[in-house]
Amino acid sequence: MLQNALERWAARFDGPPTVVSQAPGRVNLIGEHTDYNEGLVLPAAIDLNVVLLGREADEDDFVSVQVPDSIDYRGPGWRRYAQACRAALEARGLKPPPIQAVVDSNLPGGSGLSSSAALELAFLACWNQVGGLGLSSFDLAEVAWQAETEFVGVKVGRMDQMASSMGVEGSALFIDMRTLESRPCRLPDGVEIVILDTRKPRALAASKYNERVEECARAAAAIGVPSLRDASLEALEGARLAGLDDVGYRRARHVVTENGRVIALLDALDANNRRQIGRLLAESHESLRGDYEVTVPELDDMVRSARMAPGCIGARMTGAGFGGCCVALIETGSFQDFKAATTGSYDMYGYVKPDIFAVTASAGASCQWY
Ligand code: GLA
Repeated sequence: MLQNALERWAARFDGPPTVVSQAPGRVNLIGEHTDYNEGLVLPAAIDLNVVLLGREADEDDFVSVQVPDSIDYRGPGWRRYAQACRAALEARGLKPPPIQAVVDSNLPGGSGLSSSAALELAFLACWNQVGGLGLSSFDLAEVAWQAETEFVGVKVGRMDQMASSMGVEGSALFIDMRTLESRPCRLPDGVEIVILDTRKPRALAASKYNERVEECARAAAAIGVPSLRDASLEALEGARLAGLDDVGYRRARHVVTENGRVIALLDALDANNRRQIGRLLAESHESLRGDYEVTVPELDDMVRSARMAPGCIGARMTGAGFGGCCVALIETGSFQDFKAATTGSYDMYGYVKPDIFAVTASAGASCQWY
């Protein structure tokens, strides 16, 4: 990737870049659609990323070696993510200098592996270094989140930006979205992370996502709590008796039970209880399918196929849903057999050919002088 970026740089600009930054995509192990409800999440930054070559200049000039479609899915162009980051920095009274930048990415487009968060963090890490802004990885995540919610205008939670900025090599990141405290969570020895990309485009993902955000807010109001983080199953039943509609009830039930599953998965990972890990991932998927209604047949059938494959500990959809990827935890050493068996059964459903690959939990965004 760096080589392609350097070639593009040489074709576009005179003289060398001064910094190289990178920011990873992420996969969420559990805690889906909980972040904007002040809940719990367990994502991991992955070893697929956006790489950026940069240099201070007289005016901004951003080019891309290869523009993944995903970066465009919420708006007219990928540059607007960079412009939104600049605007978010300026809104804090900071002065990011104009830069020339070449970006490249090996994150699959439109798959829900957070290529937009990675793009934001690659730019922010560059500005932080070139402009001497002195922001921590937590601050950078916060700026990226503001860029996305206030300047791009999508009401996402903070999970993707925090994972891309604060990821820890070899660990997932447990984040409490109420306190914004996080800590690394090591996977048990012998467990590998696999991504199963259905390559089903995430049609209407942004509008349906916003619809879920509103449904949750409505349910919280009906229960009488500031956010669904504060709701219990008992309070939820009470609200149902008092007239909360079925959709609101099921959305809230997903969020309340999913928060419980995050804690339970932390324990199961800690105890290396493979059976319990598998059970929790299955329950999470089922809740996202039945109660939250963000899966599509491709995701359901992919999970079904993966679960029967050799070496599989557990599998579920990951990210916002409506298409995109599943995640599986598998026994180290079983990847080839797992992939062959999963591909074999999934093929029988007749969807487009999926992309199945192993990833490792990686460090968050960084920037170095070049
Ligand atoms: C998208 C959003 C995140 C989170 C997930 C669902 O990735 O960007 O903030 O809400 O969906 O868990």
